[in-house]
Amino acid sequence: MEYLKKSFLIIFRIFKRLSRKGLNLIENTHDLMYKNLSNLDFIPKKYFTRLNDLELNLKTYSPFTLMTYAIILLIIFQLTKKVIRKSYNFIQNISLKKIKDFFIILILKLPKYQNEILKAKQEMKIILPKIFKNNSYKKIEFHDNKQDEYSVLQKLSQMSRVDDKIINSGKLTGAVYCGDNKIQNIAGDAAKLYVYSNLLHADMYCSARFIESQVIKIGLDLFNGKEDSCGMTTSGGTMSILAAMYAYIKRGRNNGIENPEIIVPITAHAAFFKAAEIFRAKLITIPIDPITCQVNLSKVKSAISKNTVCIVGSCPNFPHTIADDIEKLSDLALKYKVPLHVDCCLGGFLIVFYNKANIKIPKYDFTLPGVTSISADLHKYGLCPKGISLLLFSKREYRRFAYFIYPHFMGGTYITTSFDGSRTGCLIASAYAVLTSLGKNYYTNIAKRIHEAVVKTRDFIKKQCPKLKIFGEPFICGVAFKGDKIEYIYDYLQKKGWHTNYIMNPVGISFVFTSANMENDKELMKDIKEVYDKIEKNELWDLATSTKLYGMTVPLPESVASNTLDVYADALLD
Ligand SMILES: Cc1ncc(COP(=O)(O)O)c(C=O)c1O
Repeated sequence: MEYLKKSFLIIFRIFKRLSRKGLNLIENTHDLMYKNLSNLDFIPKKYFTRLNDLELNLKTYSPFTLMTYAIILLIIFQLTKKVIRKSYNFIQNISLKKIKDFFIILILKLPKYQNEILKAKQEMKIILPKIFKNNSYKKIEFHDNKQDEYSVLQKLSQMSRVDDKIINSGKLTGAVYCGDNKIQNIAGDAAKLYVYSNLLHADMYCSARFIESQVIKIGLDLFNGKEDSCGMTTSGGTMSILAAMYAYIKRGRNNGIENPEIIVPITAHAAFFKAAEIFRAKLITIPIDPITCQVNLSKVKSAISKNTVCIVGSCPNFPHTIADDIEKLSDLALKYKVPLHVDCCLGGFLIVFYNKANIKIPKYDFTLPGVTSISADLHKYGLCPKGISLLLFSKREYRRFAYFIYPHFMGGTYITTSFDGSRTGCLIASAYAVLTSLGKNYYTNIAKRIHEAVVKTRDFIKKQCPKLKIFGEPFICGVAFKGDKIEYIYDYLQKKGWHTNYIMNPVGISFVFTSANMENDKELMKDIKEVYDKIEKNELWDLATSTKLYGMTVPLPESVASNTLDVYADALLD
């Protein structure tokens, strides 16, 4: 207590001395100013009498009071500055879209529209169980007593056959990347050997750990990794993106960036928006060039700031299947010393074989010095079962930030390479088996055929359906287009058994070719032409409810759409 009292006294004396010195300084400055100013004839004398009054007034206060006032004023000044800066940032962040959304939200609050939304939600509640074919299955019972395993597996086999009709139609955009039973059996047989393995216990499942390291090396080899390059496997594209963003945000915070910013093309996958929400980073979205549909580079450049933890390019992106200009993004990343993540989740295991297939495409991988990480999904064009993706880093320096290490866990030091704790080795075993048994030539042949399907469909639409507008100049894995009455094209194609993507902002349709649908390219072109001609002749029809529901969500602001679409999420789980 004594010690505290003494410290307080010392601080008080220092404060008093400083206050007196401060007041002397003010008085001296005042004298000096007074002398100099009174020499200036053009200043009326009455101002000097006021200055004099002020001086006399000041002298009636104790130095301590004056200093306290000064400090209070300083605090008020700093707070005002902060409020002004925040309001300025707020004003800067108000985009036209936000203003538009604000008014749409207000209008949608009107009872008339609230009823419409409620009606749509109720309609969705009825239609979704039909889409999910809930009536095709019997409730699953968990009995007290043992059941015959043969009959349990029989039931499972019957249920899985319900999906087969759609899955094997060869008319799905993306979704099914491998429809070949032989490959599926290889994956299944390999998985069986590791189905109960756990990579968290690498000292027990040593072979699973070894296989994982080999699969990563195969990826590094395909994406031209350097000596210090490294990687990890994750359970999918979203998880690879989350892990990469986690690493860059952590690295940024480690370097003193308190308000991390990630710069992405507006066409970047939703996983980046998810990452920003989870890790509390600011996501800066950059518009695309209206002709090329690639990210606008000069806008990326001007968005880079001292808070940037990484910039992102897609190769290709999901909405339009267009690759951003990764070479130029790499130049920017190098110039401004920021990491560059290339999202190759969708087409990564296709484009790595383009070179072998003699198809020339711009650079996108670690041959570019600015590229610091790449995500590429083995469970898409790698033809592996769902649940495996690769996240590769140009240098170990980046990867270590993706690890989670907690040395104080009461259960013992805890180290995981990705977000999972326990994780199965069976997907890694399947990936190893599928990749090595098929070999590079198999993948190269698929890459050639898919490229051909993309180019033919793109050129066909341009020539035969001139009123449809293709997004950019796609050449990797799919085609996206927009046009008048696009909802009729979507609806018609759906009636013909096609599953296409209804894309937004602007509204359009995209189709991704895979090894499971690439041989049906001619049929797709024929059906597009058919519906195009119908629309040209104004032969329209009643749209299916699902088409109308899709269309309805398109112009809704995010908050309203997520309030409506939670019905969908509920239907998935209930
Ligand atoms: C470009 C792109 N990035 C990321 C993802 C996310 O992958 P996943 O669905 O495996 O999480 C996708 C999925 O289609 C994609 O197209």
